[in-house]
Amino acid sequence: MSPVEKHDDTIVREFTRQAEGFADPRRNSAFTAQLGRLVRFLEPELDLEDVVLEVAAGTALVSRAIAGRVRHATALDLTPAMLAEGKRAADASGVTNMTFTRGDATGLPYLDRSFTLVVTRFSMHQVRDPEAVVREMVRVARPGAAIVVADIVRPSSGAGDPDRIERLRDPSHASLRTEAEIAAMLAEAGAEVRRAERFDVVRPLDPWLAFTGTSGETSAEVRKDLEAELAGGAPTGMRPALVDGVLHFTHAHAFIQAIAG
Ligand SMILES: C[S@@+](CC[C@H](N)C(=O)[O-])C[C@H]1O[C@@H](n2cnc3c(N)ncnc32)[C@H](O)[C@@H]1O
Repeated sequence: MSPVEKHDDTIVREFTRQAEGFADPRRNSAFTAQLGRLVRFLEPELDLEDVVLEVAAGTALVSRAIAGRVRHATALDLTPAMLAEGKRAADASGVTNMTFTRGDATGLPYLDRSFTLVVTRFSMHQVRDPEAVVREMVRVARPGAAIVVADIVRPSSGAGDPDRIERLRDPSHASLRTEAEIAAMLAEAGAEVRRAERFDVVRPLDPWLAFTGTSGETSAEVRKDLEAELAGGAPTGMRPALVDGVLHFTHAHAFIQAIAG
């Protein structure tokens, strides 16, 4: 198996396990908490005539949230179990203008210039080749269409390697990019970056580890490293904090909007 096939295999294995968590409102709050904020960021782009593509859509939380405000939304993902969960939820809520497609974001099965809004969330840090994904998103966007990339990003300052901890928790994690790197990918692919929004989210450690089913041994290792940093030890890149005595860490988020040329 090539390294590319191996990474995709790990992705499908991890997200087949995680699909159940995405379906559980008590567990998936990390994926729904910032959704309203992203919908507000998308608002200036939304039009009832829009033909939307959500790339690496998972359970299509983003496109399901805007489906009522556009003509049609296509959700594409590599993991069938995530798509199945998204379709089940869309059916249950009476949505009828969506299509769920299994596919690879690095080689989208669509014609050039076929969508009026192209969006992806929490995929840049996950996919093996984010540059190829961004190139494909720009290729399938109609000239003048918005392309929106929303993700956790590597903070531009601060010591430590957050990818090490992220990968311990989720072996399918690839690599965090900075906001500037993602903006450069969009520009390189021929889109013009126009708007961005950035914010930090401080999250409790335990539910984050539980969501991916991280083993007790690995969870203990992560906890130990974050506690050591709080005690003055080596930086982990996760910016730990104690909130009411509970161990938390910090994710930097960025929403970036660009216009296809
Ligand atoms: C962290 S989940 C995010 C799901 C969704 N975008 C959301 O925000 O709720 C990452 C998703 O990326 C998908 N993925 C990873 N690599 C992919 C690829 N090359 N092509 C399509 N989907 C991919 C995974 O299957 C998974 O569903």
